[in-house]
Amino acid sequence: MKKRILSGMRPTGRLHLGNYVGALENWVKLQGEYDNFHLIADWHMLTTNLDTSGIQQNTRDMVIDWIAAGIDPEESPIFVQSKIKEHAELFLIFSMLVTVPRLERNPTVKEQARDLGVEANMIFGHLGYPVLQAADILLYNAHLVPVGEDQLPHVELTREVARKFNSTYDNVFIVPKGKVTEFSRLPGLDGNKMSKSLGNTILLSDSSDEIQQKVMRAITDPQKIRRGDPGRPEVCNVFTYHRKFNSAETETIEADCKSGALGCVDCKRNMAAKLAPQLEVFREKRSYFSQHPGEIDDIIADGTERARKVAQQTMAAVYTAMNMG
Ligand code: TRP
Repeated sequence: MKKRILSGMRPTGRLHLGNYVGALENWVKLQGEYDNFHLIADWHMLTTNLDTSGIQQNTRDMVIDWIAAGIDPEESPIFVQSKIKEHAELFLIFSMLVTVPRLERNPTVKEQARDLGVEANMIFGHLGYPVLQAADILLYNAHLVPVGEDQLPHVELTREVARKFNSTYDNVFIVPKGKVTEFSRLPGLDGNKMSKSLGNTILLSDSSDEIQQKVMRAITDPQKIRRGDPGRPEVCNVFTYHRKFNSAETETIEADCKSGALGCVDCKRNMAAKLAPQLEVFREKRSYFSQHPGEIDDIIADGTERARKVAQQTMAAVYTAMNMG
């Protein structure tokens, strides 16, 4: 039996490079070696955004990006959290196993609350975000959770909850491990973390022209003003993109930037030219599915049926262990 992966994202629409190199690329790489389960975390989306008007289209756009990037939905079920009520049920049970001060220490939740300006006014559901995530992961008895670095506190809580349940009742849950990539916190064009709300993204679906325009606007080393000025690749966002998407030239670029031989304009142009073809390969599948949205809906419905079976088995084991079966 293969070990299992559970990972997911909130359905916020088209994905950006940060989503890709932080998580999705890893999902695709590990497919085959593991049984992948991929969650559309729509309940989680509500914790930071109550506006559901675009949720159907955003879900399709996200799933199209998953499939375009190489997730095979036949092999790896793609499913909707809110369609599998067992997520809510297990969340409720887990909420008895976690203390409020433990949740108040979660750095990722705190950072989100700070960004939203709700630190002193957090909703109950947001505080419980990582508990719901623990339910997502443990329902499928996942061994591995490939995520961006910001998700590691949630995986840590998941491990604690699994141990707590196992020691209180019976050994039902595998204690899963998180897995991050080398570029699990990719900078955006402005140097902040790449994020939709900051408007500093490159989307997987951007055309070559859009990529070129965006890369040309990226912030580099602020002390390097003209060609000839020695640059500091270690503080340059475009250099980070070179390390990830143009590894063959990384050393030359580093040396030429430092010496001043390479100017930022040429360096950016080169970056865009190397990146665009790597995203171009996703285009064909995306354009097919964009024209056949019904197929995406079918893929999700099918994945949800398959995932639900696993979730139901786990809940039966949970209630048996709790003497409530
Ligand atoms: N919190 C994750 C994010 O914001 C989404 C998510 C929900 C998730 N449930 C999960 C990720 C379970 C991994 C495993 O990206």
